[in-house]
Amino acid sequence: MDAPAIAFGGSLSNFDALKTLFAEARALGVPPERMICTGDVVGYCAEPEVCVQMLRDNPVATLMGNVEEALGNGSGDCGCNFVEGSACDALSGRWYAFARDNISEESRAWMRTLPRSLDLDIAGHRVHVLHGGGRQINRYVFASDTAAIADETATLPAGTIVIAGHCGLPFTARAAGVLWHNPGSLGLPANDGTARVWYALIEADGGGLRISHRALAYDHQVAAEKMRKAELPEAYARALETGLWPDTAILPAAERAVTGRALAPAGSVWRQAR
Ligand SMILES: [Fe+2]
Repeated sequence: MDAPAIAFGGSLSNFDALKTLFAEARALGVPPERMICTGDVVGYCAEPEVCVQMLRDNPVATLMGNVEEALGNGSGDCGCNFVEGSACDALSGRWYAFARDNISEESRAWMRTLPRSLDLDIAGHRVHVLHGGGRQINRYVFASDTAAIADETATLPAGTIVIAGHCGLPFTARAAGVLWHNPGSLGLPANDGTARVWYALIEADGGGLRISHRALAYDHQVAAEKMRKAELPEAYARALETGLWPDTAILPAAERAVTGRALAPAGSVWRQAR
């Protein structure tokens, strides 16, 4: 894959955010064949089928998230690995049932074909793409959990760039010669008190790769209203507007402590070629 490229996490049935990202990609000169989605195309918001169709109809490198695994296999729940008894756990039945009722058989079949990981060459760099963890699709790996990052990267060749998803927060961490990058979530804000969502721009920089966390503003009010019209959980509709998650039970203490603190776009250059 050539650079520039774009990586993004779950669109979570948020078509307003997804179409805004496609417009941004066009403006940046990034065609769909240089876009990477880490999975959870479907989730909390109101337009599951059109989000799937956007990725089915375009040559985006799309991974299976736990939601695609669940819907593709006709599972009874989303498989998100929420903390038992948390608000997200309680609300998941409603948005998951809505998604299940509003996804076509063709889309379900497409979900079953999605890979669980991808190995790419981007401008001469080895890039390994996964959803949650290498052995567990719904593992939450956060920036402060250095033990999880060390565990996940222990067997990867030095110089690898991992692009991961699932946890919903954008961050970049380094561990033993491996770069771990989570572009964040496209369908839900980053619990930072702003309605912005996040993606990553990957550019060649000399012999290295520059990977930048970029914020995306989109018409979040329209997306929230569509959720209310569909009678989806108000807590997530409000989250699109406030930028704050309905609960933070899945977050480690360090990430929970910065709830409501606005993230700043940031980039770093990875110079370790294969
Ligand atoms: Fe996920």
